[in-house]
Amino acid sequence: MGSFQIKEDIYWVGVRDWNIRYFHGPAYSTHRGTSYNAYLIKDEKNVLVDGVFKPFIDKFFDVLTEVIDFKEIDYYIVNHVEPDHSASFPETMKKLRDDVIVICSEKGKEGLIEHYGNGYNFKVVKTGDTIKIGKRTLAFVEAPMLHWPDSMFTYVPEEKLLLPNDAFGMHLAAAKLFDDENDEAVLMQEAKKYFANILTPFSGLILNKLKEVTEMGLEIDMIAPSHGIIWRKNVAGIIGKYAEWAEMKPLDKAVIVYDTMWDSTELLADQIADGLIDEGIDVKFFKQSISDRNDIITEILDTKAIIIGSPTINNVILPELVPLLEDLEGLRFKNKIGAVFGSHGWAGGATKRIAERMKAARIDLVEEPFVTKYVPEKEVLAGAYEFGRRIARAIKEANQ
Ligand code: FEO
Repeated sequence: MGSFQIKEDIYWVGVRDWNIRYFHGPAYSTHRGTSYNAYLIKDEKNVLVDGVFKPFIDKFFDVLTEVIDFKEIDYYIVNHVEPDHSASFPETMKKLRDDVIVICSEKGKEGLIEHYGNGYNFKVVKTGDTIKIGKRTLAFVEAPMLHWPDSMFTYVPEEKLLLPNDAFGMHLAAAKLFDDENDEAVLMQEAKKYFANILTPFSGLILNKLKEVTEMGLEIDMIAPSHGIIWRKNVAGIIGKYAEWAEMKPLDKAVIVYDTMWDSTELLADQIADGLIDEGIDVKFFKQSISDRNDIITEILDTKAIIIGSPTINNVILPELVPLLEDLEGLRFKNKIGAVFGSHGWAGGATKRIAERMKAARIDLVEEPFVTKYVPEKEVLAGAYEFGRRIARAIKEANQ
């Protein structure tokens, strides 16, 4: 058994990926695994919604055949072409009737052809289009760049059910599929991580889409995404969180990320943290080489200040810190201030390079880099403490 009825005649036919620890290649850590959620709607016409990642195709077929014969499926909705949901598409199509209709957005059709070739019965839909399948209706909302050009949502008005694919999802393999059966703090942490690491660059589009959906007056009492749990209790809560995260309104908070060779940069980091804490700022403190970059990014989503420290090695930044700098530029966080610090030996260079990278990420630097040579003496450490206090005051001033 693997299928699960989420509403009358509507089934979760997904798979849990308990063991995955990195998603998007090595780019996203998945400490709690993930799931690939597909759904089946049984009505006068039977509808399969989305699919699964390649290693799980056999399991997916087993789960699906618990609730339906492949030949009874009439429509196959592909809300999103990314392979974690569509890799099963060509194999599934081989099992379905020749006249099965593949429903997707215009970009979805292009993406499916680019991934899997042509020869399918496509029905391209756009926002406002509907298809009657019996006592229920399928309605579609395009969601381009949330987070691929092809992304769209399917909505079933009679069930007040939204099937938004990645949106409102999280990487979590959960035994129990509904939000109210899981620890809310874990769900919000994983949903925030997903937003911070994947959806941040599209925050403006998300705010517009939330407004559009509100104006369309869609009544929603269940959100069934393509990863993680299904929201039925805290539907308003997760929608509200998406609005909050997309606005990126920062807290009185600082994230310090550093690495160190002979502890000097670490001594500075510690003093800077104390200065911030003594001014009442919440501090998250990460030594990059023993920390998870995606967890750091999750903390950055609602921070005001990002403070990065590195020693200089061969005139450049300690390489462990470079991936985070790449992410900061790519993720395009808004409303952040920053500062840089580091110790060097006979020649500096790292702090200048970090400052340039932070400017490229549109982070406003509120201080000149705090730099020291070799091991910081007592007065240098006192200076680092004051550096932290000045950043704290800048945070509070900017957040007023
Ligand atoms: Fe879960 Fe964008 O794929």
